[in-house]
Amino acid sequence: MSVAEHLARVRDVALPVCDVLAERVDGARTPAWCEARGWSPFLLTLTDQEVREAEAHGLATAMPERAPESLQSLARDVARVTSLPGVTGTTPLDDEALRNVRLRKRAQLSRLLAAVGPMAEVAERIVDVGAGSGHFTRLSAELFQREAVGLEQSAERVASAKQRSQVRLASFVAVDALDELSLTPADLAIGLHACGALGDHLARAAARARCGLALVSCCLQKIATDVRSPLAGGIELRREHLGLANLTSQPRGVEASIEVTIGARQTRYALGQLLRARGVELEPGAEMSGINRRQANAGLAVVAVRALSLRQLAPPTDAELAHHEALAARDYAIIRRLSLPRSMLSRLVEVLVSLDRGALLEGSGLSVRVATLFDRSVSPRNIGIFAHQDRRRLPAA
Ligand SMILES: C[S@@+](CC[C@H](N)C(=O)[O-])C[C@H]1O[C@@H](n2cnc3c(N)ncnc32)[C@H](O)[C@@H]1O
Repeated sequence: MSVAEHLARVRDVALPVCDVLAERVDGARTPAWCEARGWSPFLLTLTDQEVREAEAHGLATAMPERAPESLQSLARDVARVTSLPGVTGTTPLDDEALRNVRLRKRAQLSRLLAAVGPMAEVAERIVDVGAGSGHFTRLSAELFQREAVGLEQSAERVASAKQRSQVRLASFVAVDALDELSLTPADLAIGLHACGALGDHLARAAARARCGLALVSCCLQKIATDVRSPLAGGIELRREHLGLANLTSQPRGVEASIEVTIGARQTRYALGQLLRARGVELEPGAEMSGINRRQANAGLAVVAVRALSLRQLAPPTDAELAHHEALAARDYAIIRRLSLPRSMLSRLVEVLVSLDRGALLEGSGLSVRVATLFDRSVSPRNIGIFAHQDRRRLPAA
């Protein structure tokens, strides 16, 4: 099946549930899409254990047998069209080269280096876009004995990448790749967790140059516009729909256990309610503006003090905190249940965008493979888009 054909199948599943994508569950009210499909009696009577299972493994995997047929059928369709082949294989890397590199990043680098080996062999230059600390740039230059250039917008990261790299063939440039990205057919472009607009830009640039590409998408919602227009047959998606892709469930939370993650979301909800009760007007999701999102793990008291002080408001009283904690516990039990069908669509959004990028590359005459590159415990953002002029150089999947 071509990428374009696969994309058409995903689109067929996604289009009828665009209303589900469009309406978030922001409060303890049944959303219109849930009412219309008659799913709320089932969702609202899920036991705590069933909710935990569905949050940990995804509702599609942990669907109780008594679920309405329409929900079960959607789950089957989503599972069918989002299933991707997996790329395996690793490149052994020595400990010295990986000093101070986090374990999960080491695993990503080792897998990606193995996957792109055959493409790198015939490339004249490797262009690592959004290079971050420059690990891939440095390691690929050394491993493949190729010129490798890391493009990164953060001057600070470029400075630390330069300082760290002793590799003659590796160089780093502080640049906004959205403005300056010039690829030739002899390049191998890399985007390891290239966020939002950068991923689209890289896909377009590689399609134009008809060069090799390995792109692992990340943070799809990081776009400058409210809407992401499809590149090649996808669906127009708003920024908040794209953010849904970050919610893909995972049994072992990558940054925190699932319980902690849910606790943090409940805290954010409580904070939003507390701020609104104080007369603050808030866009959805804006309650944590200016506060590191990990602070939500510390509980309502911590984030409320900070959020109120940022708005020059008096600190919270104990009674206020207790009141909003209790309300949030009650409401959030409902929100968690009603959110399950929408969360089930997160992987659909992520696969849709990956295939849309892949279809553009395919349309430019490149051979393309879209496959999972890592285990989700290594990174939940694990979909790789590989493109090359020579199909035989794509990673086996
Ligand atoms: C999620 S990090 C990934 C870093 C690295 N590739 C890795 O996997 O460790 C994304 C990086 O892309 C950089 N970035 C985002 N937009 C960019 C742009 N327009 N031009 C250059 N770099 C950009 C960010 O500063 C950040 O360092």
